[in-house]
Amino acid sequence: MFAYSISVQTPKILGLMTSGGDAPGMNAAIRAITRTALGSGFRVLGFKRGYEGILREQFQEMDSRSVSNILQRGGTILKTARSPVFMTNAGLKKAAGVLDRLGVDAMVLVGGDGTFHGAMDLEKFWKGQIIGVPGTIDNDLAGTDFTIGFDTAVNTAVEAIDKIRDTADAHERFFLVEVMGRHCGQIALKVGIAGGAEEILVPERPSDISDVCARLRIGRNLGKTSSIIVVAEGVRGGAIRVAEQLKKLTQNEYRVVILGYIQRGGNPTASDRCLATRLGVGAVKAIVGGESGKMVGEVGGKMVLVPFSVAVKGKRKVESLYAQMLKYLNL
Ligand code: F6P
Repeated sequence: MFAYSISVQTPKILGLMTSGGDAPGMNAAIRAITRTALGSGFRVLGFKRGYEGILREQFQEMDSRSVSNILQRGGTILKTARSPVFMTNAGLKKAAGVLDRLGVDAMVLVGGDGTFHGAMDLEKFWKGQIIGVPGTIDNDLAGTDFTIGFDTAVNTAVEAIDKIRDTADAHERFFLVEVMGRHCGQIALKVGIAGGAEEILVPERPSDISDVCARLRIGRNLGKTSSIIVVAEGVRGGAIRVAEQLKKLTQNEYRVVILGYIQRGGNPTASDRCLATRLGVGAVKAIVGGESGKMVGEVGGKMVLVPFSVAVKGKRKVESLYAQMLKYLNL
């Protein structure tokens, strides 16, 4: 008589969520994380509405089919939110308790600055692994050349500027176009360069409005018939205040366009889909490799892992490539 001992290993559980402002490409990241995790033997739970989903125990079992046909879609199938309750000690303790009770071994969080601050707080209460994936249109995180959603947001804004340019040219008007980015001027810089803006105003390098006026005047004297001024929302008072200041100094007519949330929507570009896929796969590999407390990023085409504390320090200032381009172009 033989005695068989069969040991069935319970699969590890990987939790997944998107948090903070949505960014085009988050769905591509969800798809890559889910399928890579399933392929690595994990059960995958998708928490709804970011940290809120942990606190309220709102999650769904993710299988391969649950992420079909989402690669090309903007928004996030898991929904997203900003959760003030989570950021309290009581909220963090509750979240840690829920994750332990559900048997979650590791969390992959797709989000930005606020999400990673939340992760650093959660680490104080929860022993599981946490890996972050940079998903924000702002491109304001250190440790990655680009964040998921930035490229799409830039392309959306550039498309809008091309249209605004037509009417600006027809009326020979000055237009101020405000773009998102919170405290960071990365979107404004790239949009301004790609849209051929006459001026780009960013929070990292405050501009003297009388200098701006003088340069716009020179442009007109040289025969420019339209002028687009790209203003990052982080510039004090935004485009409306800048327009008021300009009006005080000149007789010109200014029109203000605030692009707003249009920049967060729409189908992700091919670049964002590919970046999200690479980083999603990288995040699961990091979990399998035993990593925690880090964001997966890409620098110079190479995958890197950086501690959350470094990622949230924020991006390079404007001495970046774009600033050099600005100087070179003498905009
Ligand atoms: O972080 C992404 C972002 O779109 C910023 O560019 C913007 O300042 C902020 O989110 C707007 O946040 P909310 O969705 O809470 O209005």
